[in-house]
Amino acid sequence: MSKVDILLGLQWGDEGKGKVVDYLSKDYDIIARFNGGPNAGHTLEFNGIKHALHIIPSGICHKEKQNVIGNGVLVEPYIFLQEIESLHKIGFKPEDNLLISNKAHLILPTHRLMDAANEKAKGDKKIGSTLKGIGPAYTDKIARTGLRIGDIFEEDFKQKYQNLKQNHIRQIESLGFSVDDFQIDGKTLSEYETIWLSSIEEIKRFTIIDTTYYINEQLQEGKKILAEGAQATMLDIDFGSYPFVTSSTTISAGVCSGLGIAPSYIGKVYGTTKAYCTRVGSGPFPTELFDEDGEKLCTQGHEFGVTTGRKRRTGWLDLVALKYACMINGVTDLMLMKIDVMDNFPTVKMCESYLSNGKEIKQIPYNMENADIKPIYKDYAGWLTDVCKIKDYDSLPENMKTYISAIEKGTGIAVSLISLSPDREDTIFRNK
Ligand code: GDP
Ligand code: IMO
Ligand code: MG
Repeated sequence: MSKVDILLGLQWGDEGKGKVVDYLSKDYDIIARFNGGPNAGHTLEFNGIKHALHIIPSGICHKEKQNVIGNGVLVEPYIFLQEIESLHKIGFKPEDNLLISNKAHLILPTHRLMDAANEKAKGDKKIGSTLKGIGPAYTDKIARTGLRIGDIFEEDFKQKYQNLKQNHIRQIESLGFSVDDFQIDGKTLSEYETIWLSSIEEIKRFTIIDTTYYINEQLQEGKKILAEGAQATMLDIDFGSYPFVTSSTTISAGVCSGLGIAPSYIGKVYGTTKAYCTRVGSGPFPTELFDEDGEKLCTQGHEFGVTTGRKRRTGWLDLVALKYACMINGVTDLMLMKIDVMDNFPTVKMCESYLSNGKEIKQIPYNMENADIKPIYKDYAGWLTDVCKIKDYDSLPENMKTYISAIEKGTGIAVSLISLSPDREDTIFRNK
């Protein structure tokens, strides 16, 4: 019996999970997504190809590896088919190495309208959702009113769909809106619904099974499985900066319920973190920068959302949040991403504690939004060297190694992987 290793985000998303999953896929037989849906945007870069994935796992560009969309994931059939088409364009045929859980829930067109209506109703307290229908679809799942992919094969699917749609329309109206107040990717509800319903017919040609049995059988046979997280710890429904979070369990515990694996079968937990911080959407961000350094991190890190194109907010590395994330996830190895983005900073900073009401604190406060917290920084000398083509740890600049050691010391966890560019090749794996 083998174990399932997990790779997930420790910050507010976009740490570079897609790149690392693609890089690590060579060592696994199966790559499985366990949470989130089209709100995710995971970027891969290899052989001159740059590709973004949303619902499909980041192992898909390894033809001999099986990829699984687990029960914890939300599937929007039209967005899914667009992803399939863009994979065809770069020479991949996901039909051959992709399994979908029949228990994964569907995102309906009206979920996306509800997302927009909820956000509008919140006014300046809006979450900054990706507007993919995530919150409303998970709400239906928990309320036991959702539709699952397996339902599309049932005779009464159309009726169930109509009932749920009408229920959604009533909810939108109860907020004081009409469905005509919003569009879905520039289309009216009835235009989008036509495409969505035909996508439902089209996805029937994919392999839709009970992936829980599949995954457990594969574990029994000793196959190696990598679970790929979407979003990240600080966006987790329970442990993130609530209510500015997503609606799923993004942490390691989510793997058990999102794939159907017992806790005793969890192996390594790879936690990805940028060498600095970013956040997209609203919500507290203690180390956020509003100065030239923040702009520089944004420009040099190309910090624009993969799913929505929005500019990401930037800031220095927050060790308080990072330690919290490592604790909750049981991180065994850190994967340090995008340190090259800091190549030409004369000084880099790391927040090691917060100042709150005149006292130094080292824990995340209950309500990050209203808490009076100011980061306390330690300065580190920059390395002022172009590092992207360096192939071994020892050859990295000394000042960078000092910064990496400070992260290891602060978290008590070894940095096993250092990523030096978006490309699969520009990666240093230590301790191997
Ligand atoms: P994910 O959501 O965690 O998969 O991350 P995203 O794909 O949303 O955002 C990460 C961005 O950083 C993508 O554009 C990647 O191509 C890029 N990237 C990943 N690793 C590195 C790195 O080490 N250095 C640089 N400069 N870019 C990176
Ligand atoms: P990946 O997997 C960064 C953010 C949104 C918003 C909040 C809720 O690429 O790291 P939602 O649409 O889930 O209801 O939005 O969460 N968010 C992400 N931010 N990366 C992501 O995914 C995100 N998925 C959701 O911006 O603030
Ligand atoms: Mg992303």
